[in-house]
Amino acid sequence: MDKLFIEDLELSGKRVLLRVDFNVPLKNGKVEDDTRIRETLPTINKIISSGGIPVIISHLGRPKGKKDSSLSLKPVAEHLEKLLGRKVTFLTNCVGEYVEKSVKNGKSGDVFLLENLRFYKEEEENAPEFAKALASLADLYINDAFATAHRAHASTVGVTKFFKQNAAGYLMAKEIESLSTILEKPPKPFVAIIGGAKISTKLPILKNLLKKVDKLLIGGGLSYTFFKALGVEIGKSICEDEQLNNASEILQSPYADKKIVLPIDVVVTDSIDSPKIIENVSWDAIPANLESVDIGKKTRELYTYEILNARSAFINGPMGVFEVKPFDKGTLEVFEALVELTEKGGFTVAGGGETIEAISKLGFKGKLTHESTGGGASLEFMEGKVLPGIEALTNRK
Ligand code: 3PG
Repeated sequence: MDKLFIEDLELSGKRVLLRVDFNVPLKNGKVEDDTRIRETLPTINKIISSGGIPVIISHLGRPKGKKDSSLSLKPVAEHLEKLLGRKVTFLTNCVGEYVEKSVKNGKSGDVFLLENLRFYKEEEENAPEFAKALASLADLYINDAFATAHRAHASTVGVTKFFKQNAAGYLMAKEIESLSTILEKPPKPFVAIIGGAKISTKLPILKNLLKKVDKLLIGGGLSYTFFKALGVEIGKSICEDEQLNNASEILQSPYADKKIVLPIDVVVTDSIDSPKIIENVSWDAIPANLESVDIGKKTRELYTYEILNARSAFINGPMGVFEVKPFDKGTLEVFEALVELTEKGGFTVAGGGETIEAISKLGFKGKLTHESTGGGASLEFMEGKVLPGIEALTNRK
């Protein structure tokens, strides 16, 4: 990595402004899934064990610049306290005299977590005065919020102007290394599996990956827009008609015929919630009165074969309606193949909010080489975009 890293910093006795992504699901005032919090523990513990004082900042949800008690980070502070096994001082503001005083009086061993950054409209506006006030709380800046690195906000970009040293934490570094490896130097053959409902949100990633992969396996709702672009009947399956030209363009791009693999059969039904009809049909034989909701049996076998013949794989998006049995089979079998590839030494990466949700729901958490904590951020990274939160970190000399 060409960016300054936490291990390059002299942390002893220093206050460290630590940007994390604690944008986690809450239910009845409790943290429902703490993956993103656990993933930052190595960075927080490193600061503490080196004698530094972490001043942790994060956003939660989209309160749009207004205080909203349902989006307070207080429950996260309580959860973090349990995970760290030490007191976490929660401050109910992010800037101002009370915050400054509390943090300045902090001693080695103290941990501070400030309230939701997005209670201030200046955060998303990347307002320099707000960034300066945040920066004034600390001596050094570490960004471990990979999942927010695609946002140019005060806490991810603005603050960096006021520090000499802006470094990546362990999670940020792990994300950059894993996603860069799969994008720039994947062990070959390299297979990407792209699913999800809409082709419109996947166009940039499809275009970028097509240049890099040996095979691009398509599943999920976006397949039906490709099918329609090829002129076949798709019944009641979801389709973005306004994207038909884009779908055709992708199918006609260089090497597309050798690289893109569309489902050869699909599972169709009359109703997702209370199905009376469930059939496996050829991709070009979807009945007019039914909708397709998953990849079919032959496609599952074909995709498993392609994945097991690869040495690296990237997955973004489910293959079907994985939330409802038995329409989870395609997603399930693709993940089983990815786990098998991982176990035999392959390099496997998953990215995107819905993908991580599927991994968790179907019981595959922790079984791939890297499961990105980023939703939009990992998608944009894989599209080949420069993420402002990474760009703003100090370059290594
Ligand atoms: C995420 O969950 O993807 C990040 O926390 C970013 O959240 P945002 O889309 O509200 O900026």
